[in-house]
Amino acid sequence: MKVLVVGAGIAGLTTALRAEALGHDVELIVKGAIGDGCTPLAQGGISGAYGPGDSPALHALDTMHAGSGHGAPPAIGALVDGAESAIADLIAAGVPFDRTHDGDIARGLEAAHRLPRIAHAGGDATGAAISAALIARVRESRIEVREHVFATDLLLDSGRARGIRSLDAGTHAADAVVLATGGAGRLFAHTTNPPEVTGDGIAMALRAGAAVADLEFVQFHPTVLDSADLADADADADAFLISEAVRGAGAVLVDADGHRFMLDEHPDAELAPRDVVARAVARVAAAHGAPVRLDATALGPSALAQRFPTIDAQLRRRGLDWSRHPVPITPAAHYLMGGIATDLDGRTSLPGLWAVGETARTGVHGANRLASNSLLEGAVFGARAAESLSAASWQVSRSHSLPLSGADSGNGCDLNVTTPFTRSELQQLMWEQVGLLRDPDGLSDAVAQLHRWRPPTGSTVAAHEDANLLTLARAVASAALARTESLGSHHLTSTRHPSPALIGAS
Ligand code: SIN
Repeated sequence: MKVLVVGAGIAGLTTALRAEALGHDVELIVKGAIGDGCTPLAQGGISGAYGPGDSPALHALDTMHAGSGHGAPPAIGALVDGAESAIADLIAAGVPFDRTHDGDIARGLEAAHRLPRIAHAGGDATGAAISAALIARVRESRIEVREHVFATDLLLDSGRARGIRSLDAGTHAADAVVLATGGAGRLFAHTTNPPEVTGDGIAMALRAGAAVADLEFVQFHPTVLDSADLADADADADAFLISEAVRGAGAVLVDADGHRFMLDEHPDAELAPRDVVARAVARVAAAHGAPVRLDATALGPSALAQRFPTIDAQLRRRGLDWSRHPVPITPAAHYLMGGIATDLDGRTSLPGLWAVGETARTGVHGANRLASNSLLEGAVFGARAAESLSAASWQVSRSHSLPLSGADSGNGCDLNVTTPFTRSELQQLMWEQVGLLRDPDGLSDAVAQLHRWRPPTGSTVAAHEDANLLTLARAVASAALARTESLGSHHLTSTRHPSPALIGAS
């Protein structure tokens, strides 16, 4: 059958390669150049390299705990049970995972994992190594790669996805469409995600009526370089992540007085779940009026350079010697736990449409993703989706549907009074009112403001991206407003219940 895969991160590449190996005709559509996106930037690694005393069952417990108990046990089971073969497949594809002197995969520790079980390649260049290996396999295959093609909408026929429409190349018909377009970090003013991550696939699925879920759960990474005091050129540069693996190796967080505050916050201190650390960092920075610092000086210059070559080089390029001085850090938007609702094989509620990777809401991450589970999810569920393409059954429950109606039809806003918006206005609004710390009034205001803004109608990539960002911002803000208690990454600083009219109670 003809399979169209949209997106070329680990999930899209895995799906495309497995589908081609199964005999399907695969077309791989990429918005920019193959090799763009989040996967090549992933420093942290891939979880699931189990050592002595460890097991998929323990990994499942850690995944559920980090997700504040909101994860779906069958999806988590599929994730951890698939880890061994996913990592073996990556090795077979040519990924040079780092090894110990004995030849075993070297296992790193990251936050909220009870044991070291993270495989890395090139120290902190795991995503780049995975991306390069999978792209090389795609180049050798029959997969038809089309770069710089912007998918605008799904083609629907009798309630079934039959392909996509694209900006310059017309239509791309297919028997199965797999969306692997990543998350939506560019909803926020500060993010680790590259510029192309504008939620296009999820927005497209929303327009087509596919069910989405858990969009209120946005992960903010706690340790992104705070470049506010750096030279102007660097202050404007994209946020630079300092991997959680650095804290896994022993680095600590200190406030402006040099106090290691995470010891007062959580029994696991710097290795508490990411949402806990991010909130503590934001709170302590606000209380001191000065950034929190990541102190890696105890690790020593040669260990830092060897184990974290990318971070070491990037910090030194910015004039920072982290082997001698703690570096300023701040939280930034990193990962979307929610997405297009799928079953365990990536099937969405729309027949003919699959979703994999960050685009999908498989239920693995719950309310907060466990470190290094995203590359694993892309590899495991990408392969599962490919294996399921030929199967006829289509039974995804619609029960995950987001209550978008309140946002889109009668939430108290006058939909006739709309104004244009700029992307940076939207990103600032989302950062301030739908960010790390939320409250019902701010969320209500954000939903109202987002509905006063008019989607752009131009035919450029930027206009389509802005329209997608607005669609998704409305969905994320509405989902956040509808969840009236704090859970994981969705943290309310006060809990006044909003009026039912604003959350579209049905
Ligand atoms: C990190 O290296 O801290 C990020 C890895 C991840 O997002 O899991």
